[in-house]
Amino acid sequence: MDENQQSIAEAKRLENLWGSEFGDQYVERNADVSAHRGTFWTPFCARHDIGSALEVGCNIGANLRWISDSLPAGRTYGIDINREAIARAHVEVPLANVVWAPAREIPFRERHFDLVFTMGVLIHQPDATLPLVLSEMVRCSRRLVFFGEYFSEDQEEVPYRGENGALFRRNYGRIFADMFPDWSLLERGFLPRSEGWDDVTWWLFQRP
Ligand SMILES: C[S@@+](CC[C@H](N)C(=O)[O-])C[C@H]1O[C@@H](n2cnc3c(N)ncnc32)[C@H](O)[C@@H]1O
Repeated sequence: MDENQQSIAEAKRLENLWGSEFGDQYVERNADVSAHRGTFWTPFCARHDIGSALEVGCNIGANLRWISDSLPAGRTYGIDINREAIARAHVEVPLANVVWAPAREIPFRERHFDLVFTMGVLIHQPDATLPLVLSEMVRCSRRLVFFGEYFSEDQEEVPYRGENGALFRRNYGRIFADMFPDWSLLERGFLPRSEGWDDVTWWLFQRP
């Protein structure tokens, strides 16, 4: 196997993990995480005049539920690799269009959305294909890219539910800025455990 084939094989290993019972169990554990999230997303959508949005790795729609309330009908989209999560998202957020796709191959055209974002999904991408996922998010965004992830100045792997190579704290803002130096950092923030989040650091970048 050459280096490129190895990268794709590692991405597929994690996609298969999330697509399996492991991902179904995540759906069960997190059925009830949405209630507090509106206090972040509703003002966020208004502040940035969001008219369309895509969440990469949306699970059952805990973010999309609030975004869909703020956007015109039919302008809220999600992709995920776990079919159980997608089925639940169709019930929980009926106005969102949620389809199966891997983050490294987003099935939408260039600059299709005002906002493309992740919440707790880049942390589950291997080094080998993280740049591919970020490039896909940039490709599909007309204006804004957002990611809320676990931060560490220097990369750290965190053991995750008995799996190796499945969760990484990184300085995602720096990685993005190094890859896309023309994009400007518009906002950065922190969503603490005390407000029902998971100590998530977020960055919002704007297209030049
Ligand atoms: C930790 S959960 C976060 C869910 C959601 N973003 C939230 O904030 O509640 C990670 C989600 O990303 C999905 N996922 C993980 N890797 C993916 C990939 N490579 N492509 C698409 N979805 C992926 C998983 O199936 C899961 O639904």
